[in-house]
Amino acid sequence: MRLKGKVALVTGAGSGMGRAMAERFAAEGAAVVVVDRDTAAAQTTLDRIGGEAHGMARGCDVADSAAVGRLHEEVAMRWGRLDILVNNAGIGQVPGDGFEHYQVRAAERGRQLAAGETPTVHTDMIVDLNDAGWQRVVDVNLNGTFYCSREAVRLMTRAGVGGAIVNIASVSALSGEGPLSYCASKAAVLGLTRCLARDLGPRGIRVNAICPGPTRTPMMQSISEEWARSLERAIPLGRMAEPEEIAAAALFLVSGDGRQMTGQTLSVSGGMAMI
Ligand SMILES: NC(=O)c1ccc[n+]([C@@H]2O[C@H](COP(=O)([O-])OP(=O)(O)OC[C@H]3O[C@@H](n4cnc5c(N)ncnc54)[C@H](O)[C@@H]3O)[C@@H](O)[C@H]2O)c1
Repeated sequence: MRLKGKVALVTGAGSGMGRAMAERFAAEGAAVVVVDRDTAAAQTTLDRIGGEAHGMARGCDVADSAAVGRLHEEVAMRWGRLDILVNNAGIGQVPGDGFEHYQVRAAERGRQLAAGETPTVHTDMIVDLNDAGWQRVVDVNLNGTFYCSREAVRLMTRAGVGGAIVNIASVSALSGEGPLSYCASKAAVLGLTRCLARDLGPRGIRVNAICPGPTRTPMMQSISEEWARSLERAIPLGRMAEPEEIAAAALFLVSGDGRQMTGQTLSVSGGMAMI
């Protein structure tokens, strides 16, 4: 029960690694605010952790600053505090942003890399990426992280209890392999993590990032099987991560076990990224 008495808010907790974190945190004794733009999915996660007695489920688009503000007000009204925030909600692409062309070329590029060849395929993502596609990914992955962190820190400082924030970035932020908007927004999240960690350390608020490698979640199902196989070949441990393995790393960072950790980036990728 490493999180007994704590209140944790996890975004994108209706699916994949966000759901795994909500379940793990609840098992460790935390009350969990399960947030997802898909309200029904958030409710399902809450039901899995035991319902209203163990937290609350809310439908919220993290890219909507006002909605994020209202969400945190609700948390303040129910618990008067927030101890843990995981900025996990994220998207890789949006329909019509040129991703379809990218996928085919990226799979071939991945195959060449995995075979130890110098890649000759150009993905030319920037040529096909339209403004709306770029903006939506940045809005969710970067701006959403900013909006939620700002409200969480306001609440943490108001309650004076310190806290821990974990931002879910990606190995793509380190390698540059992935959609342009995705790599750029996830790399920016690492900068935000370091700046906040420096600023908030004296307040007892720790801020860290996790860079998951390819992980078996519904998001992974959006990429072609060929590309998924080429990704797996590039992982030294030879397999994708399970969502529960990312949740275990998040638990370490938000619990007392990680009390000397701030401003860090943890690569949980089977060795795909070594930093
Ligand atoms: N799966 C991977 O291989 C992988 C690798 C590296 C990083 N990541 C990152 O991990 C995080 C979780 O990904 P996942 O694989 O569990 O994905 P997922 O698609 O299974 O789950 C993401 C959840 O976030 C929710 N969401 C999306 N946009 C939202 C928004 N604007 N507001 C609120 N909720 C929103 C979705 O409804 C979904 O329930 C993401 O930030 C992703 O970029 C995933």
